[in-house]
Amino acid sequence: MGPGYLGHYDAYVHFDPWNPEFVAHPYDVYDELRRERPVSFFEPTGQWLVARHADVNALLRDRRLGRSYLHVATHAEFGRPDDPEFQDPFWRVIRAGMLDVEPPVHTRLRRLVSKAFTPRMVEALRPKVARIAGELVEAFAERGGGDLISEVAEPLPVTVIAEMLGVPEADRHLLRPWSADICGMYELNPSIEAQHTAVRAAEEFSAYLVELARARRTDPGDDLISALAQVVDEGDRLTEEELVGTCVLLLNAGHEATVNVTGNGWWSLFRNPAELERLRADHGLLPTAIEELMRWDTPLQMFERWVLEDITVGGMDIPRGSEVALLFGSANRDPEVFADPARLDVGRVDNPHISFGAGIHFCLGAPLARIELIESFGALLRRAPKMELTAEPSWGPGYIIRGLTALNVTI
Ligand code: HEM
Repeated sequence: MGPGYLGHYDAYVHFDPWNPEFVAHPYDVYDELRRERPVSFFEPTGQWLVARHADVNALLRDRRLGRSYLHVATHAEFGRPDDPEFQDPFWRVIRAGMLDVEPPVHTRLRRLVSKAFTPRMVEALRPKVARIAGELVEAFAERGGGDLISEVAEPLPVTVIAEMLGVPEADRHLLRPWSADICGMYELNPSIEAQHTAVRAAEEFSAYLVELARARRTDPGDDLISALAQVVDEGDRLTEEELVGTCVLLLNAGHEATVNVTGNGWWSLFRNPAELERLRADHGLLPTAIEELMRWDTPLQMFERWVLEDITVGGMDIPRGSEVALLFGSANRDPEVFADPARLDVGRVDNPHISFGAGIHFCLGAPLARIELIESFGALLRRAPKMELTAEPSWGPGYIIRGLTALNVTI
């Protein structure tokens, strides 16, 4: 492939992650990409877009790619500018979490935290998750409805992860704004203002967690921060920076996507009334329905990887130093893998969607997310069997982390 190729293909005329219409419905463009240009260069971000399920799945598992390259090269060696100095506090926190490191550091961090997230440990949390979901839904129903996102979808995962970590109740209102501000940096080409907001949030969040972890180290409770604080600086186990990075990651990853699956999921059901009726008639379909909602309208549309060694994908040679953008939303609608992919089928059993990722960074919280979603959808189906939309929702500006601004319903 010569450089001329870059000039004559205009994927970006169609693929436009800054265009609200595209964000609201990216799926036709994905169909076209999968069919016509499954691997294509997107000049506005300088990334290779990868649209087919088989390629996305394979690249997520391919160790010639990484979430970071800083373990094998400098910014200069990868032809990338240094991060602006003002972003230092942000990257210090983010690059200390397991999601932004590669083995061997990743292996050590993931092993320390994964004990708290085994399916058995998480299953033990189900009664608590069910209680919190039940209380939120009951209060929501007593008010006759309102905004499902701010009143049910957000508080459930925030409360669950905050309780797991041991963040005091009085401070929990701080978490969602910090997390949302930090996530602003993950969108494609964030504005300078969004960058400053993200840096400020990372600084505040990190200062808060340092203090909390120090307090728990001397006076431990029965929570994850206390457990992690006990292993800080023991040999090579966990530095204070890694502890903070881990907690920020867990608090952010632990709710951003779950909120959007709830909002997007109900909006999908309202747009597919026959499937909503099917689920209302048979709550036993909940486990397959949740997987299908995550597939049909994917909450995290894209994940990126750095190419650490030359690769060939879909016949395209992609050199070391490039960045690939894996289109999860597109992979999840690939007809090679899913029968009748545009159809929402709450009973779909053969559903290898890619929404939790794959490979070494596969979502650590997947078992917990599934429990949260089943319990909150279940509580709403039981307590609000006739729930209806009262206004057409609108999509927030985010493309990578894609969700509705509100979902107003009546019970
Ligand atoms: C429906 C909700 C969720 C979705 C769709 C989701 C999705 C994902 C995806 C796609 C990744 C991999 C990213 C990549 O490979 O670049 C990931 C990683 C991760 N997720 Fe989730 N997630 C969800 C809920 C949660 C929850 C509830 C938690 C924790 C309580 C969590 C914790 C994590 C962590 C710690 C990682 C990093 C794993 C690693 O780097 O080894 N997630 N998630």
